[in-house]
Amino acid sequence: MVAPPTVLVVDDEGRSFAALRDVLARDFAVIGARDAAEAEARLRGEAVQVILCDQNLPGACGIAFLRRVRTLWPGPVRMIIAGTDDAEGTVACVGEAGIHESISRPWHPERLLRSVRAAAELFQIQSIPATALTARRASGPLPCLLPARGQAGPLLSGFGRIVHEPSSPVAAVLGLARRAAEYDISVLITGASGTGKELLARAIHDASARAGRAFVVENCGALPDELLESELFGCKKGAFTGAHQDRIGLFEVADGGTIFLDEIGETSPSFQVKLLRVLQEGEIRPLGAQRPRRVNVRVVSATNRDLMAEVEAGRFRRDLYYRLAAFPIHLPPLRDRPMDIPAIAERILGEVNRAFHRRVAGFAPQTLELLARHAWPGNVRELHNEIQRMVALSEDDAPLPAHLLSPAILADRCAGGDRPCAPAARTLKDRVEELERRVIAEAMERLGGNVSHVAGELGLSRVGLRSKIERHGLRRGAGATDA
Ligand SMILES: Nc1ncnc2c1ncn2[C@@H]1O[C@H](COP(=O)(O)OP(=O)(O)OP(=O)(O)O)[C@@H](O)[C@H]1O
Ligand SMILES: [Mg+2]
Repeated sequence: MVAPPTVLVVDDEGRSFAALRDVLARDFAVIGARDAAEAEARLRGEAVQVILCDQNLPGACGIAFLRRVRTLWPGPVRMIIAGTDDAEGTVACVGEAGIHESISRPWHPERLLRSVRAAAELFQIQSIPATALTARRASGPLPCLLPARGQAGPLLSGFGRIVHEPSSPVAAVLGLARRAAEYDISVLITGASGTGKELLARAIHDASARAGRAFVVENCGALPDELLESELFGCKKGAFTGAHQDRIGLFEVADGGTIFLDEIGETSPSFQVKLLRVLQEGEIRPLGAQRPRRVNVRVVSATNRDLMAEVEAGRFRRDLYYRLAAFPIHLPPLRDRPMDIPAIAERILGEVNRAFHRRVAGFAPQTLELLARHAWPGNVRELHNEIQRMVALSEDDAPLPAHLLSPAILADRCAGGDRPCAPAARTLKDRVEELERRVIAEAMERLGGNVSHVAGELGLSRVGLRSKIERHGLRRGAGATDA
């Protein structure tokens, strides 16, 4: 029903292409090209979200091809696959061609799939929903949607991707993160699952002096120690069972750039010792290698645990904690920033419309109200799923009606009534804001979006009401009129 994102695999070696295709076909539409010319022809003819390119192409090198792609088609997220022989040259050029991730052979199917999924997600994030922009441009200041530096096209970078309202606690968090980005210090991002930790880590990298170099992600929670160490620090062939080839470590791939160590709180004591040594000494020793290699990497790590509590409980090394958390940043859960929900929901709807080739025209006011009232235990990720589901169930050219919401969210309506938005506001100001938003949303819904009538009933001027509608991120319904 829904078209999966398209990945273009550029690889001239039939067996290698088939292996990549078999894994990627689980989640993606896979198209192939044997050389640069064929790949360009495909890019001219098809909408591609991710390009996965072999470093060794007939008559060309993958990096040179991706550098050219970057100029001609800046949209697709670029990834490269290199064998150990090419790894060094590849690593040196990664930043230059704006390559999102370098994957070394032999690759691990699950990890490959995860990396390409992340790349497809990045593609979505980078696309500003045209609807959100035009709606907002037409009606004055609200947006925290900053166009990327020097980019006229529909791409966002850095902090501009993190949607929030000026009154949101996230505004203060981003203020801190911007300061942290300026200095080469390690940042620890804490926050519940789906609050945007990885998005913030990328923003810090993009805003730092290392922006032109690689940003490399490792999920430390998903792998046994040996594999994690060989991925991060590299290994020599035969260093452990399963190490069939030399492998370049992600610390080396990230040299000059940033490494994002996700789920750092899940790591074992023995891994923590090794990581501490790397951070103290600024050098890595690939498993089975004789000599260490110097690396210059900025570390941003993240966890959804209370890492200090883990330290107190003896499960996380205190010395490592202080190495990682020179600059701690906490992302609040969505329930503590309900004012952000309408704008984030609009951004996501734009992304989903693009990904699904749909034209859903926003949210009905009551839908937004219910979205803003829900506690969102899965945070933005859960909101994303909810919107995807609603779009799949809805019609084009109409706002999403409230009855398409999941039962758990609809139930909030019954529980709602006059209760203060329980999970939401903390300060009196937040609560008053939330109440105002709900009163306006309710009146807009009841009076069919007629601004004059709503303004009259609430004792506001039309201009005053319009500015409040904007401030609260309340879209006027399709039938709204000024008459
Ligand atoms: N403020 C925001 N504005 C727009 N999109 C957001 C925002 N926060 C998060 N997202 C989106 O929500 C999804 C989850 O974000 P992200 O992966 O960064 O969260 P996380 O905290 O790393 O989650 P997890 O702990 O589950 O790994 C992503 O698609 C991200 O782009
Ligand atoms: Mg994450």
